[in-house]
Parts: sequence; structure tokens; C-alpha cells
Amino acid sequence: MHKFVAAFSLAAAALAAAPAHAQFAKGEDAIRYRQSVFVIMGAQMGRINAQLKADKPNVASIQSAAAVLASVAPLAGEGFVPGSETGGVPPTKAKPELFLDGPKVAALSKKMNEEVAKLNAAAKGGDVKAIQAAFGSVGQSCKACHDDYRAK
Ligand code: HEC
Repeated sequence: MHKFVAAFSLAAAALAAAPAHAQFAKGEDAIRYRQSVFVIMGAQMGRINAQLKADKPNVASIQSAAAVLASVAPLAGEGFVPGSETGGVPPTKAKPELFLDGPKVAALSKKMNEEVAKLNAAAKGGDVKAIQAAFGSVGQSCKACHDDYRAK
């Protein structure tokens, strides 16, 4: 599994290095792509949260959700390409600043991916307290970007 994730991240990095917009015919395709990735991420976070609130958290369920989160999280950034600043169905909620603040957005994205990787590691470890702490840090890293770059 670990090898797979490493290879997958490499593939994502290689994709990111190629002209990113080549994979989308239209701006709205890129918007749909990133929104889909975020919907999956939100759903996996919800799955983990529900288990953490349960009397007896199902660690296997948390592990599978954390693994999905770790494999899709690196993809979200691919959808933020030139030509996808506006439009989409539903309309994009990305603020215009996101497309102008490259280094800051990249740092927020990197931080989120690091926290997601830590959550995945904690989930594999199986210690619910450690998972809870890592889950909180992931949530913070999502919020940090949403506060600045996602419209209400
Ligand atoms: C680097 C910035 C950034 C980070 C980090 C980030 N998001 Fe987002 N998120 C956005 C933006 C921008 C949008 C709006 C995208 C759009 O509409 O085009 C968004 C949208 C969403 C949506 C709504 C998707 C929809 O269209 O219905 C969800 C759910 C979501 N994010 C969950 C998460 C979760 C969970 C994390 C952390 C694990 C996270 N995001 C991390 C920037 C970020």
C-alpha cells in the first residue's frame, strides 16, 4: 500500500509538471474535476468524524477512509488551471485571489497534504487518540485555505 501511494504521488507530481490544462478541454471541466475531488475528500472526512464520535470507533473504517483521502488529496490542485477562474455548474466558489497567490496557495496545499499523510499513518497505527489529533490537524489545514480562498 505504501509503495502504491508513493508511486501515485510521483505520478501526480509528473502530471503537475506537464502543462496542467492539457488534460481539460474546457475551464468548466477543470472546475468539475476539483469540485469532485473535494466532494470525495469531504465525504471521507465525514466518515472518519462519524467514527471518532462513536462509542466504539471502527478503526478499519477510519483506515479505509484515510487511505482514500491520502490518495485523492494530491489531485485537488490539478483542477486549478488558467481558464477555470469563473463558471462551472455549480458555479465555482474559488475566490479570484486563489489564482493570483501562487506561493501561498501552494504552501496551504502542501500543508494539507502533509497533514493528510500523517492522518493516514496514524490511522494505520490504530491508536484512536493519535487519529483524533491528526484528524484535527487535517481539519485545520482545510479551513486555513477555505477561510482565505473559498467563497461562502
Ligand atoms: C489550497 C486550498 C484548499 C485546501 C487545502 C482545501 N480546500 Fe476545499 N476547497 C477549496 C476551494 C477553492 C474550493 C471551491 C472549489 C470550486 O468551487 O471550484 C473548495 C471546496 C471544497 C468543498 C466543496 C466541494 C463542492 O463543490 O461541493 C469541500 C467539501 C471541500 N473543499 C473540502 C475540503 C477538505 C475536506 C479539505 C481538507 C482535507 C480541503 N477542502 C482542503 C480550497 C481548498
